[in-house]
Amino acid sequence: MPDGEIKTAKAPASDARFGRGFLLDIWYFAALSSDLKPGKLQRYEILGEPVLLGRDRQGRTYGLRDICPHRAAPLSAGKLVAETDGTPSVECPYHGWRFRTDGACSAVPSLVADQAMDVSKIRVRRYPTAESQGMVWIWVSSDPRFSGEPPEPPPVFEGVVGGGPKFVDHMDFEAHVDHAAVGLMDPTHAPYVHGQWWSRKAKGQHDKAKAFEPAERGFVMTRHPPSKSNRLYRLLGGDPLTEITFRIPGLRWEHVLVGRRQVLALTCLTPVTETRTRITQIVWTDHWVANLLRPWFKRMIRVFLHQDGDMVNLQNEGLKYDPSLLWIDDADRQAKWYQQLKREWMASRREGRDFVNPVEAATLRWRS
Ligand code: FES
Ligand SMILES: [Fe+2]
Repeated sequence: MPDGEIKTAKAPASDARFGRGFLLDIWYFAALSSDLKPGKLQRYEILGEPVLLGRDRQGRTYGLRDICPHRAAPLSAGKLVAETDGTPSVECPYHGWRFRTDGACSAVPSLVADQAMDVSKIRVRRYPTAESQGMVWIWVSSDPRFSGEPPEPPPVFEGVVGGGPKFVDHMDFEAHVDHAAVGLMDPTHAPYVHGQWWSRKAKGQHDKAKAFEPAERGFVMTRHPPSKSNRLYRLLGGDPLTEITFRIPGLRWEHVLVGRRQVLALTCLTPVTETRTRITQIVWTDHWVANLLRPWFKRMIRVFLHQDGDMVNLQNEGLKYDPSLLWIDDADRQAKWYQQLKREWMASRREGRDFVNPVEAATLRWRS
């Protein structure tokens, strides 16, 4: 489906059912820092809303709802201009209304001198943004009029090494973010979906037992030596130790230590609409193998994403009948945790209280 054709009725954001609604009052990954050039206006679609993301000429990022309050032209089709005091404004391409990067209107050019109108009362929704570790994050508030600063900084990751990402790739999955998230943490699909990178199908499957603990707004598969049959880890040589963390709203990262070298593979899910999710894969490393095999790794990430994306499309053939899903222990326990985390996040926001992590430490066992 081309972008313009999507018309999904917006489910209430507070819908806690699986496959519906979005987590709000939380940071989402929006873009890489390098995607936003000074003075350039870029249109994104995030959580079902068009969002203009930009960077002013002083280097600061900003986010605005990409719909002019006058007659709905996309502000991103306009340009960044400087007010007489030097502050930046976005000028709408249709009638030239200007909006500061905090969302307040600064000019309505059609007004004549004696037409008194307080244009600063006109506002376009502002999305707070923050830049951290080479990534741009967007705060999606439950209150569209929210004008303050988010109560916390965006997430920070251990293992951002090597002076910038070594690999970046992204793809849009035709799935609600819940399905994408559960797909990310699904421990038993790899031999079937990504077969050639693992030891082949059933023949090479082993019983696994992995220790999990609650972690900030999520859970972590505690540091352990990865499976010897996995070719990716074998390439790294030495005795790698890996730790895999999941955090709502849709962040999963694997941090591998090989002696003094590190690999951090971060996957970020950003809902585009109710039925489409952008998946961004970013890898940092100071391991020599990554530089040596860079083209091969790049291709491999691509192949992985495609394999998952194709399976999502296939799964949609079933999901369109809205069946109930049969999650089993222990293979789907992480999916259950995800759903509990989502519910608790929504309940704690609604009730104005601290989030209490519902995950309990456990060793999960499966064969894959
Ligand atoms: S639509 Fe933006 S100024 Fe008229
Ligand atoms: Fe996968």
